[in-house]
Amino acid sequence: MSLALETNRLILRRFRGSDLEAMIALHQDPAVMKYLGPLMTPEQTNDFLYNVVTVFDEQGWGLFCVELKETSACLGFVGLNRPTFEASFTPCVEIGWRLASSHWGHGLATEAATEVLLYAHEMLGMDEIVAMTTKENLASQRVMEKIGLVRDPQGDFMHPNLQPDDPLAPHLLFRTQPRN
Ligand SMILES: CC(C)(COP(=O)(O)OP(=O)(O)OC[C@H]1O[C@@H](n2cnc3c(N)ncnc32)[C@H](O)[C@@H]1OP(=O)(O)O)[C@@H](O)C(=O)NCCC(=O)NCCS
Repeated sequence: MSLALETNRLILRRFRGSDLEAMIALHQDPAVMKYLGPLMTPEQTNDFLYNVVTVFDEQGWGLFCVELKETSACLGFVGLNRPTFEASFTPCVEIGWRLASSHWGHGLATEAATEVLLYAHEMLGMDEIVAMTTKENLASQRVMEKIGLVRDPQGDFMHPNLQPDDPLAPHLLFRTQPRN
């Protein structure tokens, strides 16, 4: 699968084996994992990437590796995913992101997500896309707003994969606005 998207500063492409080191470092950064759960071991990241590539090859879309054009570094991912848990808003396709903390605050998540959202609508013919995050993750919510998603308070939910008393359990739901 050679699909790649391009933005001003980024290439969004299928993950490859040489990205593993950068992804292991990403998943061992406490700042990155603050709202996502425990740090991931190298083995867990290896399994994670294997799954990402398998799904991407099977369905032709998924989580894109975010590569910075200037250095060719793998910064993390932005992409599309079908949640496997059940909630009031599933089945659905969500957009999500996870980038190296050394590159936060420069609009890179917004730049990549804008392109992926356009791709979902225009090339994959997807209508509604959702995004979700734990209540405290304000940076992620800001990215959702900046790419034009709108919070749906009726979609607030306790993440079913987390214990109800886990501080990360309360989640907010954002949706793309209806398109004409
Ligand atoms: C969420 C994440 C991808 C954002 O990446 P990024 O490249 O820094 O995002 P952008 O620069 O495009 O936009 C971030 C916005 O959040 C804002 N922001 C950052 N921290 C914030 C905070 N604590 N409170 C409020 N807003 C915040 C920034 O100011 C910016 O908004 P602005 O352009 O209006 O100033 C990055 O922080 C990340 O990878 N976090 C760890 C993984 C994660 O939590 N993923 C989301 C899971 S749902």
